[in-house]
Amino acid sequence: MDKGVLGDLKVNRVGFGAKRLLRAGFTAADREGAVRLLRRAVELGVDHIDTAAFYPSVANKAEGPTGFTSLDVANELIREALAPYDDGLVVATKVGPTEHGMARPDQLRGLVEADLRALGRDRLDLVYLRQSGLESVAEHFGVLAELREAGLIRHLGLSSIRPEHLVQAQEIAPVVAVSNRYALDFGRVNDDLVDSCGAAGIAFVPFFALTGEGREAGGVAAHDRVSEVARAHGATPAQVRLAWALSRGPHVLVIPGTSSEAHLLENLAAADLELTPEELARVG
Ligand SMILES: NC(=O)c1ccc[n+]([C@@H]2O[C@H](COP(=O)([O-])OP(=O)(O)OC[C@H]3O[C@@H](n4cnc5c(N)ncnc54)[C@H](OP(=O)(O)O)[C@@H]3O)[C@@H](O)[C@H]2O)c1
Repeated sequence: MDKGVLGDLKVNRVGFGAKRLLRAGFTAADREGAVRLLRRAVELGVDHIDTAAFYPSVANKAEGPTGFTSLDVANELIREALAPYDDGLVVATKVGPTEHGMARPDQLRGLVEADLRALGRDRLDLVYLRQSGLESVAEHFGVLAELREAGLIRHLGLSSIRPEHLVQAQEIAPVVAVSNRYALDFGRVNDDLVDSCGAAGIAFVPFFALTGEGREAGGVAAHDRVSEVARAHGATPAQVRLAWALSRGPHVLVIPGTSSEAHLLENLAAADLELTPEELARVG
């Protein structure tokens, strides 16, 4: 499978989501396991990791009411496992949510600087403005555009947006990626946005591609037709879900989240699963 594109960066189309690295109540041994998993992921060719200061947010639930407390656990694990970073590794972060709600524009610089420190980097490869509840993203995105101009950020993205947010942001600075919820049975309100990103050369990075309606609870959503197609290929439902998402266009980059090496291997192998047009129509 050809590589995908994030601005001037090329990445494999199956990446890794860091939200599920640890579960609530994790121990020191679990942290060591997470470091091993991250190293294994990179050994296996993962070159696109999606993270945030508030990941793993399931673990954060114990710490704050919103799940958006910036504990920097995932970022610190990534640094411990992978710094000094390979040139080809893209680490995408996101700013916006805080334990007190959506950050104000004047708080964004501090959040970006905290990510730089936690990850041990001079410049962040890709920073998404992860909006919630904004009519316009212009003011927030403008701050991130200034940080990009100042050299703290290489590329900008948008997350959890409506189509009008993309238009607002593009008037300010280039957007290389959009990350919204999207699965064959979830978030299909984003169908047109997926297509318009493809037409504009913008990567679309679906989250919850496996868990769908399960959202924070995780696990792979049950779906009879997905299971039937999986059986016909000797594949798993997770692989069929990822293959379906990838089939939406060469600009789609998946970032399944896992704490398990077996699941990581399975998810990476989904890049080679080819479904027929009939199968894709049947599950999607
Ligand atoms: N921008 C945003 O607002 C936003 C929001 C949510 C998530 N994200 C990003 O998107 C990534 C993906 O979303 P997500 O992690 O929430 O959900 P997901 O990838 O749809 O599903 C993750 C769940 O599926 C399980 N799983 C993974 N691979 C599996 C496999 N092969 N077989 C069986 N179970 C499997 C995981 O548990 P195991 O640990 O048991 O594998 C976990 O419970 C996140 O990690 C995060 O980086 C972004």
